[in-house]
Formats: sequence, structure tokens, C-alpha cells
Amino acid sequence: MSIKFSVNGFPYEVQATDYAPDLTLNAFLRQHLQLTATKYMCLEGGCGSCVCVIRRRHPATNEVQPRAANSCLTLLNTCDDVDIITDEGLGNRLSGYHPIQKRLAQLNGSQCGYCSPGFVMNMYGLLEQHQGQVTMAQVEDAFGGNICRCTGYRPILDAMKSFAVDSDTAVPAECVDIEDSFELLCPRTGQSCQGSCSRPARRRQDPAPAHWHWPKTLTELFSALGQVASGELFMLVAGSTAHGVYRRPRGIRHYIDVQAVAELKQHSLETDHLLLGGNLTLTDAMELFLVAAKRPGFEYCAQLWQHFNLIANVPVRNNGTLAGNISIKKEHPEFPSDVFITFEALDVNVLVYDSPSSQRVMSLLTYLGDATPKLVIGGFILRAYPRERYLFSSYKILPRAQNVHAYVNAGFLVEWQDVQRHIVHSARICFGNIRPDYVHAQPLEQLLPGRDLYDPATVAQMFEQLRGSLQAEERPPEASPEYREMLACALLYKFLLATAPQELVRERYRSGGQLLERALSSGSQTFETIKQNYPVTQPVQKLEGLMQCSGEASYMNDLLTASNAVHCAFVTAKRVGATIQQIDATAALGCVGVVAFFAAKDIPGTNSFQTVSQLTPDADEIFAAGRVRYYDQPLGVIAALSQDTAVHAATLVRVTYANDQRPIYTSIGQVLAAKQQDRIVCLPKELPHLDSASGPPLAPGDVLGRGILELESQYHFTMEPQTTIVVPLDNVLQVWCSTQWMDGTQGSIAHMLKLDVNKVQLQVRRVGGAYGAKVTRANAVACAAALVAAKLNRPARFVQTIESMMESNGKRWACRSDYEFRARANGSIIMLTNNYYEDAGCNLNENVVDFLTMPALRNVYKLTNSNYKATGSAILTDAPSSTWCRAPGTAEAIAMTETALEHIAFSLQLDPADVRLVNLRSGSKMVQLLPRFLATTDYRKRREQINLFNAQNRWRKRGLGLALMEFPLNTTVGFTYPTTVAIYHEDGSVVVTHGGIEIGQGINTKAAQVAAFVLGVPLERVSVESSNTVSGANSMITANSMSSEMVGLAVRKACDTLNKRLEPVKRRLGKAATWLQILQAAYLQSVILIASDSYKLGDIPSYSIFGLSLSELELDILTGSHVIRRVDILEDAGESLSPNIDVGQVEGAFVMGLGYYLTELLVYDRQTGRILTNRTWNYHPPGAKDIPIDFRIELLQKSPNPVGFMRSKATGEPALCLSVGVLFAMQHAIQSARQDAGLPREWVRLGAPTTPETVVLNAGSQVQNFALN
Ligand SMILES: Cc1cc2nc3c(=O)[nH]c(=O)nc-3n(C[C@H](O)[C@H](O)[C@H](O)COP(=O)(O)OP(=O)(O)OC[C@H]3O[C@@H](n4cnc5c(N)ncnc54)[C@H](O)[C@@H]3O)c2cc1C
Ligand code: FES
Ligand code: FES
Repeated sequence: MSIKFSVNGFPYEVQATDYAPDLTLNAFLRQHLQLTATKYMCLEGGCGSCVCVIRRRHPATNEVQPRAANSCLTLLNTCDDVDIITDEGLGNRLSGYHPIQKRLAQLNGSQCGYCSPGFVMNMYGLLEQHQGQVTMAQVEDAFGGNICRCTGYRPILDAMKSFAVDSDTAVPAECVDIEDSFELLCPRTGQSCQGSCSRPARRRQDPAPAHWHWPKTLTELFSALGQVASGELFMLVAGSTAHGVYRRPRGIRHYIDVQAVAELKQHSLETDHLLLGGNLTLTDAMELFLVAAKRPGFEYCAQLWQHFNLIANVPVRNNGTLAGNISIKKEHPEFPSDVFITFEALDVNVLVYDSPSSQRVMSLLTYLGDATPKLVIGGFILRAYPRERYLFSSYKILPRAQNVHAYVNAGFLVEWQDVQRHIVHSARICFGNIRPDYVHAQPLEQLLPGRDLYDPATVAQMFEQLRGSLQAEERPPEASPEYREMLACALLYKFLLATAPQELVRERYRSGGQLLERALSSGSQTFETIKQNYPVTQPVQKLEGLMQCSGEASYMNDLLTASNAVHCAFVTAKRVGATIQQIDATAALGCVGVVAFFAAKDIPGTNSFQTVSQLTPDADEIFAAGRVRYYDQPLGVIAALSQDTAVHAATLVRVTYANDQRPIYTSIGQVLAAKQQDRIVCLPKELPHLDSASGPPLAPGDVLGRGILELESQYHFTMEPQTTIVVPLDNVLQVWCSTQWMDGTQGSIAHMLKLDVNKVQLQVRRVGGAYGAKVTRANAVACAAALVAAKLNRPARFVQTIESMMESNGKRWACRSDYEFRARANGSIIMLTNNYYEDAGCNLNENVVDFLTMPALRNVYKLTNSNYKATGSAILTDAPSSTWCRAPGTAEAIAMTETALEHIAFSLQLDPADVRLVNLRSGSKMVQLLPRFLATTDYRKRREQINLFNAQNRWRKRGLGLALMEFPLNTTVGFTYPTTVAIYHEDGSVVVTHGGIEIGQGINTKAAQVAAFVLGVPLERVSVESSNTVSGANSMITANSMSSEMVGLAVRKACDTLNKRLEPVKRRLGKAATWLQILQAAYLQSVILIASDSYKLGDIPSYSIFGLSLSELELDILTGSHVIRRVDILEDAGESLSPNIDVGQVEGAFVMGLGYYLTELLVYDRQTGRILTNRTWNYHPPGAKDIPIDFRIELLQKSPNPVGFMRSKATGEPALCLSVGVLFAMQHAIQSARQDAGLPREWVRLGAPTTPETVVLNAGSQVQNFALN
């Protein structure tokens, strides 16, 4: 059958058999239509970069529903009779931009821009779905599935909320009215789309072996099922989103699209029941819950809406269906389904078809246990539960605000026998994610009938019995059984606190019955701008902002190459410590579509993706050749005709190992515990020496103490994956690589292939997020792709999957500090020693210990050789070599020292601000800044208010955390950033190209601002072209926050040269001459209108960046969840070159730090070294609702940097160091809970990340204390 659909108004007709049966819409759009505005990263519904809008006719209501959808999950063959809209279809430079694209760009919501089209399309879907009538709260709620790693979300939310009916955001005048947005413009004509033209799509050559069926009725559906032979795999394709949780099996023979089967999409609301068709989407169901909630007996549907609103994210809910969700639960009993847990608590029945004419109604549990093949879920029957007789509530506790499966979920339904006396008739008490076979707390369900639910003895008995019945299963990376059991009890307790009559609940306990509520977020940005320097210091829009938001900006993987390109995937080693004896790729090479396999023996030159330098002294093998250094170390590469095939074939390569060496050590803790001295590499470099080992004698009131701070690693989570495309052209390899360091990538490819360096040429237009991940680790993929391209003499494309990136690539250096202190009664430090260890992974490349950590350790304090000693060691572990990650080493250094200061304050029972004040280094800028900051943030008053709040609330606690920073910007590694500026005599426009890389930090915008300022031309006349290895030869790394300033300086030098050359012409023509007249005259006189120069080592001396943050958060002590109520940041950016960009850098860095300290937990199997958190499903960077509710940024004013370029300071990384304040706010809050719990006053070891689990396990709560009064 052919499927007909339209994309941006263009009709298409494709034959299902022409394409792979499971081709996704994303692959079709990108590979076959070359519509690359729709990006991808995770391919599992967890990042949002692939969102587009699909308008589909509802088979039961006939209504056309526009909905945002994850194109990475949507199968092309389910797109019959739909209209697909991508970012290209909304607007572009020819037909004009769409208001959403414009506003996102104008309000600075795009940094690297890789996420931007996904945000635009999600917003477009939301507006279309609600005919433009959305509130700010709805908008803020809708982006749980869109991850942005750069911006910190605040500007994105501002831009999107500006479309809300209740918005008060000032909208730039140029943004046209939203009404215009509903008209889809034809990308070809720029006119309203008539849907009348067509384009052919490319077809694949080998027809697919699987069958697709598109039934329109139940009868047709069963006839399709009738064609499924016994033992054949089949799938009823609804939203096809389950693939985002558990991957579809390979070898499905029959795909049966159920989306057009009206019987499965019905609903009806009667007085005694609500029938929901099995394949209603979760969004459909939620809409019906809102309607039903207004009807007697169905009020509980309002709670169901709340609960469903926490399932997945908007695009997944728009497409994923009820039956699909329950089917996952049937196949994978451990799946913590929220649909199941709420429906089971409500005793929902399933309507099941065995055939079109035979239906059965059964309980959910019966359905899960029914092994009849080919059962079709027709619907779910929700009965009425009159409010007077029933009580229902449900809960889901998750590691971040949205878009994560539950730690534990729960549903409680109580039927009253006597509502006045709270006597229970029956109860259904269900918990999810305890163990696969655990649903009902049966002892409680048996205990409660006939009992007073709120009677103290009953309550005590309930918790005793519940605790005993749980026995949660150990299943990493899921949270610990201990926490999950505690959580289950806490949820039941919450239910009791929330539903019991007020007079039965002690006042201090009442707030424990509520979940934390999050108000709408907002922010303020304060900075200085200096008009006479415009456009430098002007808060301009990012140069490529609009192109990024409209999807016109291209990234490496958007590049078209010839159709003979091959795709690559790593084959990895699984036995750490063993030697690779033999690699057998026969099975992989036998797969249809596999072209080649290469391993270490195929490398003609050096088997290392590092060019050896001071920073990278060790070789990093491209492919393991001997001993396996870490789990999932690449040992070869598969080249195939598609990425899917390459990834699958890579799993078929068999490896034989010898000389297994055990045990292995994959963490600092393991190395220290086993005293593996040869793995502890002390890196002494200008270590301060404590003059006397023990410090001066103790005086009365002095304290001494010691502590340990552990900061785990962090995954960079770039939205653009590691990507390289290599095309052999003439006798040169043309390389498009997502790298932060062209010179390093070029060199490592050339050395690997034994080529002259000039035979490898790179071009980098922009990189979709880097944060250190693409300094040297981009080279691993680049070398593998280059080897494939060189060996096969055809284009090679290597886009690493998220699993591969998380498994094989190095991450942030984990850190541990063992510190000891003595302090006077006023907090002044007499002695502080810090033995710190940082996890290098399997070699010392990109060392941070002495290079970046040590110089930052003293921070702003009087830590001298007479009161301070630090010893730093790198720890060698059996893990991928660690790499730099935003503020590498420095963030850890500042966290260590700030933690020691907090600990001292805690020990002396002093205000942490006072302890900081007495220890400030005299002469430090912080001496002025701190008192001012404490005053402007109302620090003292808020601390008092918080203490009062904490005294009044047993289960809710607030905390305030201060952090100070002196970030030493080390410019001694910035050797050269060549830059070229050219002026075109034809019209006077200017182009700049430089050796830095635009990674979202705004280097191009700053370069253009400088060029416009120095040459005296309007900013619009300046553009910045791709970086490349000809004009940008030998360029240094774009990292360490410094490149923008250094490139800016190089631009100024080149512009000065041009000005000098033009000066005589200007003089001759006189003041009245225009820019164009000057240029044309200069051209005729052979004045060279192109100039190159470079930043040189020492042009900008090293300097310090100061910053302060104050974070206030609130904890739910029962669940460990938190909200960040307010954050104030004051950062010294000198005279900011580009305030919008610098504010964005500060916000983005701080929010990345929030992830580091609060949500981003990496879990490993310590026996094998395998990482268990390798997907968006189980690794959680912050989302849009994890940011501070009130986020105030101030760039210090009237604070020129005397040594900085144009008096500016760098902003890219420092603010990440300020996020550590949230740990101190946590400590403040947790201490209050511990005091209430009667625990002795002890410092709690909180590190990175401090998750809800850490909070609960340290807060001292005991289930036996869960009483109402
Ligand atoms: C990023 C992400 C986050 C998620 N988070 C959560 C979460 O927090 N909580 C939660 O509960 N879920 C979560 N989910 C799961 C989500 O709810 C399911 O993916 C979705 O409901 C599946 O529905 P579908 O229509 O897409 O199923 P499909 O993927 O189309 O199908 C799944 C299975 O259901 C079967 N099936 C489909 N229709 C029928 C039918 N009528 N009768 C019998 N079998 C049928 C199919 O044969 C197939 O085996 C998440 C999913 C993703 C991708
Ligand atoms: S690529 Fe589709 S959600 Fe990540
Ligand atoms: S701008 Fe959002 S990920 Fe870079």
C-alpha cells in the first residue's frame, strides 16, 4: 500500500515496501527529504530535539488534531493521511520568520541552537492544539521533554510564555501578531500553502521483509492478526513510543497500525462509568479527565489528570496510548507504569477483544497474567466513585521535576463504611517500582476494613505492616531498596496527613501532606551597557539566533554527502583488564548492509586520538590493541549503509580475551580502600606548605574537625552528538567534525593515517554544545570515521549514539577531598588541610589536579602557607580517561574550600556568611562585594524567616546557601587564535573568520561586535564564516572560557591593520566620503582589504573572576524532592562585551551546575566497570522546571577589567562554581529535619549529586514516627 501525507504542505506518496519497515519519520525527513531542521540526539523521546507537529484525523471524532510529536519515535508508515509540519515549514529567510522563531531568537533563547527547532515546534504544537489560547502555566508545563544544556531555560521560557493569554512579557515590536502564525506558508512560494505540488522522495533499494497493515476497523484488525503465523513477531503500532523505554525487538514480521481503528479510539461518559478506548492517547485521556472531573462520581479524574501530567512529556503523551502503556507493563513487569498504578488503585477494568465479536471484561491484573496471544485491548472502564463514599489519591516521586519515570508511584482508594467516623469499608493500596511482583499492600488492605483510618493505633500498625511487606528489589540504576521502601511509607503518610481532618493533625505536620508546589518562574537580568562603545557592550541578539531557531543553521550531521556514504559504529570491549586475543567480525560482516570492519591492525599510523602535548601526555587508543583499559573501550569500527545496521552489527562482533586481570578499580573509593599506591599519582606543583604541621595551639572556644566531600562525575550531555563526516576529495580528506579544537583533530587524523597534515582539512561552522566534551574526545569519532573513509575511499559519517557516548567517552573528573580544620571561635581559620583526589580514568590526559584545581583552592580567603596545605593526587582507574567538563577542576576546587568554610561555620554554630567575612583575604575584591551582596539579597532577614519556617514545619524545610568564587582564568594556554577580516569593496560588507569555534558561547557575535566597532560599520554589515584549518591553522582549543576574548582581540588587531591601510585613502577623500566610496577608492589603489592576525600568548594576562550566589530551596523531607525558590547571582564580567550573551552564559553555567549537584547521577556496575546510566531514561540533566523559580542575575557594574580585552571578563564557565551553594542550602534544611528527628547535631556529608535519596536517607525520618499528632 502507498501512504500519502504532506510535509510543510508538500504532498508525498510513498510505497511502504520501498523503505525499511521501521523507518522513523525523523530519518525520512532528514535523509530522504533533506529537511534537517528537525534534529535528533537520543532517539528515545527524551531530549526533544526531534519534535515536529503532526496533524492527524481522529478516527472516532473525525476531528483533525494538531499535536507535537517526537519524529524519532514516530514510524513513517503510521503517517498515512497526516500533515507534518517542521521548523522549515514555519518560516525562513525567504518567506519570513514565524513569531515563535523570532521571539526565541530575540529573547536570547538560543545559544548553540541545536535544541531550538525542537522548542519552536513544541510551542507551535501547543498553540495549534489550543487554538492559541494557552496560559503561562500551561506553557511552562509543556517543555518537560525538551532539554537545553546551554541556556538554563529562563530566556526560552520567557520567549514561549510571551505567547500566553496572561503574559505580561514585553515583546519586541518586530514580532508580528500570533494570529499570523496559524497560516502555513509554502516554503517554495512563500504564499499560503495550497497543498498542490509534489516532490519525489528517495527510495531505498532493498524492499523490506516485513508487512505493514492499516486496518480501519476491528474486523480488519483481526484479519491482519490472522495473517500473523504462529511464532512470528508482530506489533500493534499505536504511538510507537514504547521504543523509547524498551527497544522494539528486531525481526518484527507484521506491523499493524491501529491508529485509524475507530473502535479503539472511542470514549463515553455514563453516570456510572467512563469508557476510554484502548488506543486513546494519554493526551486524549487527560482531556477527557478534565471533562469527567466535573461530573458527580468522577471528581477523582482531576487527580488522574495531575498524575498523567507527570507521565513522560507532552510529545510522548500526544502519541503514546493507554493500551501501549499497559502492554509495556505486561511484557516488562518491572516497568513503573503510572497508568497501571493509578488504574489498578481505581480497580479499572480492561475490555479485551479475542475477535471482533468476542469481548471480555477483566481486571487489570487478570489481563497482565493472561497469556492468550493476539489479545487486543479495546478499552478501559473507569467506574464512578462518589466523593461522599470514596477517597482517592495518587503520587509519583521522581528525580527531577518532569519527564522521568517514578522512583516510586502509588495509588490509594479508600471506601468509607462510615465517613464521619472514618471507618473504612475497603481499601486499595498500590505501589509501583518496589519489585516486579509487588502491587498491592495486601496486609494493609486486609487490616483496614472496619478500622478508623486516622486512629493512632491503626496508623502505627499500618506503617509497621507496610514496612514489613515491601522488600524492595535491588535493581541498579534504580534507587536503593532502602529509599524506595521509605518512600512508599512516606507516600502513605502523605495521604493520611492530607486527608485526615485538620484537628487530628498536628499543625507542624500539616504541610507534609502536600507536594511541593512550584510557582511560575521568572528572572531579572541587570547589567551595564556603555553607549560610546556600541555595538560592543550592547545587548544585541546572537548573530545566528534566528537561523538557529528556524532550523536554517546547519550542524555537521545536516551536511549532505553522496548517497554512497557509509555510517559507523564502535565495537567495544567488555572485559576490563583482559587482553584482546582475537576479533571475529564474520557474523557482523554477514549482515545485509554491512560494508566493512576495521580494528587497530588496520591503522597505518599512530593508534591514538590525541596529539601528544603538555595537556595530553598519554596516548589514547583509537581502538584497543592489547589490554582492555575500561568497559566499552572501542576496539573497532563497523561501516554500514545505515546507522541502525552499523549499531546492530557492532553487537555481533565476537571477541576472545586472554589474561583476565582482576580485580578492577573503577572509582576513587575503590582505589583508596584497596591502598593501590601505584594508582595514586601525587601531582606536586607549587603546593603551599604548612609551616607547622599541627598549627598553633588550641585556645578556648576553638574548634577542630574533619570531613570528606565527594563529587561524582558528570556527563556533558551535549545535544549535538559527537559527529564527524569525512569525504575523500581529490587527494585530501575533507572533514566536518563537531570539535572544539580543529588543530588537535586534524593532527590526530593525519598521524593516524600517516598523512601530511595538509592532506586533512577541517571545516567547522558551529558545534551543538560542547562543554569540554569535544576538546579531544571528538577525535575518537573523527579518527574512526577518517579511517573508514580513507580505507573505503568513500564518504563516512559517524554520529555516536547516546548509549555509545555515555559508555565509551570520558566525563568530568570525579573528586574527593579529605579535609581537616582548626578555627578560632569567631570562625577564623587557624589551619586547613586538604588531601584531594581526582579520578583521571585510565590515563593522565587533560589533567586538572595541579593545572586547574590547585590554583583555585584558596578561593577568596586568607589561606596562606602558614594556615593551609593542600595535596592533590590523580587516581588512575579502569574507566575512560576523564576529560574537561565546564569549569573543570576549578568547580571542584571552589566546592572543596567552600564546603570547609561551611563546615567550620556549622561546627561553631556561626552564620556561614560571618565565617566567610572573617576569613576574606584583605585586598580581595570580595571584601566589598560580600557585604553589598548580603544586603541586596536580604540575607540576614531571609535566614531568620527560614529558621522560623523550619520551626513551624516538621516535614517541609527550607535552606539558604551562600557561595563565593574567585575563578582564576589561566590564559597561559592560549597560544594562538588566527583571525582574518575581509572587507568587500563592492558593498562594504565585512566578513570575519577565526580559529575559534562557535559552540554556543557567542564567540561569533562578540567577534562581529568588535569588528563593527573598530571598523565603524553597522553590526548588520558584519558576518562570520565557518572556522577552517586554512585561515585558522594551528588554532588553540576553544575552551576555558577565554577564546571569545582572545578572538575578539585578534579581530581588533586585524581591523586595526585594515584601518591603517585605509587611513591615507580616507584622508585624501575627506570627511564627507562614505564607507563605500573609501573602499572603492582603496580597491582601485590596490589596498589589500583583507588582514589576518592572531592572538598571541601573553596578549591578555591571567586574571580573576569574582562571583557570589545565594540559593534558597525548599525540601519535602518525606520524599526528598526540592524546589529552588530563589537564586541571586552577582558576577564580575568586567565591561561585558555582549551582555545578553554573558547573562546567558552565567545562567546556563549555573543551571548545568544544578544538574551536577542535584540530579545527574551516574551509576556503574563496580564489578565490571559497566555504566548503567547510559540513556535519557536514566540520566537526568535539569529540565525547564528544575531551574530557580526566581532567578536574578546581576553582572557587576562599573567594574572594568584593567587587563581584559576591552576591559571585559570571561563568562562561559565560572558561574558553574557558584551552584555549590545549593548543597549548603540542603545542609541548612536537612539539619533542621535532623534536629526535629532528635538526632545529634552532626555535619552531613553532601556531595555531587545530592539526590532526593540522599536527602531522605540523611534526614533522620523514621517510619515509626509517622504519626498524625
Ligand atoms: C521518554 C519517555 C518517558 C516515559 N515516561 C513514562 C512515565 O513516566 N510513566 C509511564 O507510565 N510511562 C512512561 N512512558 C511510557 C509511555 O507512556 C508509553 O511509551 C506509551 O504509553 C506507549 O504507548 P504507544 O501507543 O506508543 O505504544 P506502542 O509503542 O505503539 O506499542 C507498545 C506495545 O503495545 C502494544 N499495543 C498497542 N496497542 C495495543 C492494543 N490496543 N492492544 C494490545 N496491545 C497493544 C503493541 O503491540 C506494543 O507491543 C514514557 C515513554 C517515553 C518514550
Ligand atoms: S531525538 Fe527524539 S527525543 Fe531525542
Ligand atoms: S541552545 Fe539549547 S542545547 Fe544549546
